[in-house]
Amino acid sequence: NAPVFTQPEYHISVKENLPVGTRLLTIKATDPDEGVNGEVTYSFRNVREKISQLFQLNSLTGDITVLGELDYEDSGFYDVDVEAHDGPGLRARSKVLVTVLDVNDNAPEVTVTSLTSSIQEASSPGTVIALFNVHDSDSGENGLVTCSIPDNLPFRLEKTYGNYHRLLIHRTLDREEVSDYNITITATDQGTPPLSTETYISLQVVDINDNPPTFTHASYSAYIPENNPRGASILSITAQDPDSGENAQVIYSLSEDTIQGAPMSSYVSINSNTGVLYALRSFDYEQFQDLKLLVTARDSGTPPLSSNVSLSLSVLDQNDNTPEILYPTIPTDGSTGVELTPRSADPGYLVTKVVAVDKDSGQNAWLSYRLLKASEPGLFSVGLHTGEVRTARALLDRDALKQSLVVTVQDHGQPPLSATVTLTIAVSDNIPDHHHHHHHH
Ligand SMILES: *[C@@H]1O[C@H](CO)[C@@H](O)[C@H](O)[C@H]1NC(C)=O
Ligand SMILES: *[C@@H]1O[C@H](CO)[C@@H](O)[C@H](O)[C@H]1NC(C)=O
Repeated sequence: NAPVFTQPEYHISVKENLPVGTRLLTIKATDPDEGVNGEVTYSFRNVREKISQLFQLNSLTGDITVLGELDYEDSGFYDVDVEAHDGPGLRARSKVLVTVLDVNDNAPEVTVTSLTSSIQEASSPGTVIALFNVHDSDSGENGLVTCSIPDNLPFRLEKTYGNYHRLLIHRTLDREEVSDYNITITATDQGTPPLSTETYISLQVVDINDNPPTFTHASYSAYIPENNPRGASILSITAQDPDSGENAQVIYSLSEDTIQGAPMSSYVSINSNTGVLYALRSFDYEQFQDLKLLVTARDSGTPPLSSNVSLSLSVLDQNDNTPEILYPTIPTDGSTGVELTPRSADPGYLVTKVVAVDKDSGQNAWLSYRLLKASEPGLFSVGLHTGEVRTARALLDRDALKQSLVVTVQDHGQPPLSATVTLTIAVSDNIPDHHHHHHHH
């Protein structure tokens, strides 16, 4: 009797990730003879090298175990010829048919075929950033891949044909908001559990000159005391430009204008790089009190963008003018310049008035009059703010005919400046009050 297999074919389905060393199945043949005649041993028949690397057959027990990794992607089916023979050599044949089942053991592969690594901001939506294709070696759902990107990004994915995809601009980019992106493309298959692959696309957004410089203030005002040294710096003006490189490089200038017939550029200048404004002259408050300037900040883009800002420069008065006495003047015509007072004048009689002006302004021009010296102390008084010289008491017979007063006029500057004048007053016995007129204003 020859051995007889229990089945003409053995069928088995196994997952490809079956661990090495696992028993697949046991084949069995029976032989009714006795002793050596009934002793059955098993072996592969016509064994190909591939099979002998993957499967091992125990010749005594008929156990078939897995020797190597079954890779569905390599081969999904094995047809193994086996035979059984007894001691004297009678044989039987059978087949073991192994079906390898796919498991989701391959992550999708992403191949970027074309890539733009930098793109101008303001490129229109629809501009292509990258082309890539995806491949998954698994089969069925395990090999079905979908791609995604985070949805807060201004990009979108589009499937073109086959496994090709495109990454496109979806919303206009603004470099001043985000200057570079690291876009994660996630390719996920539909296996259980799914496998996914992340691919990073880094994209740099290239600046265009889309922002003019902007001044830190809506307008500027500055003050400079008159008599400033030439070249004194007045203030620093700054404009910011959020663009980059040359598009953000700001150049300052002053608009051409004239002041009192002279070009503005002869009074002030601005450092085109730093925005520091300088006085080119020593200003005289008595000549002009303020300057209205227009400052332009222009970037170095192509074409350049610019902004204007107004600057008001006020010259501050300093006490640089001495009071000037207009009356009484030092006679130039040879006259005596003498004031007359009737001896009969009542106390408080207006003798004369010292008149002075000061070219400065404010406190620097506010004048006070004081009697500095008198030949007859107590006879005359001077109005502190009016400069009026009046009799302080009635004139007496013993009062001299010729009185001399020194009046000082002082402004309220810091420090104050002053001028003095000497008055000569003649006391007259025969001049009636009403003939005496003074109109010194
Ligand atoms: C992009 O982001 C990923 C994940 O955060 C990181 O591993 C990768 O280094 C980044 N690439 C670049 C160019 O920054
Ligand atoms: C700035 O002022 C100049 C001179 O007045 C003018 O020509 C220019 O248009 C102004 N620029 C802007 C941005 O307003």
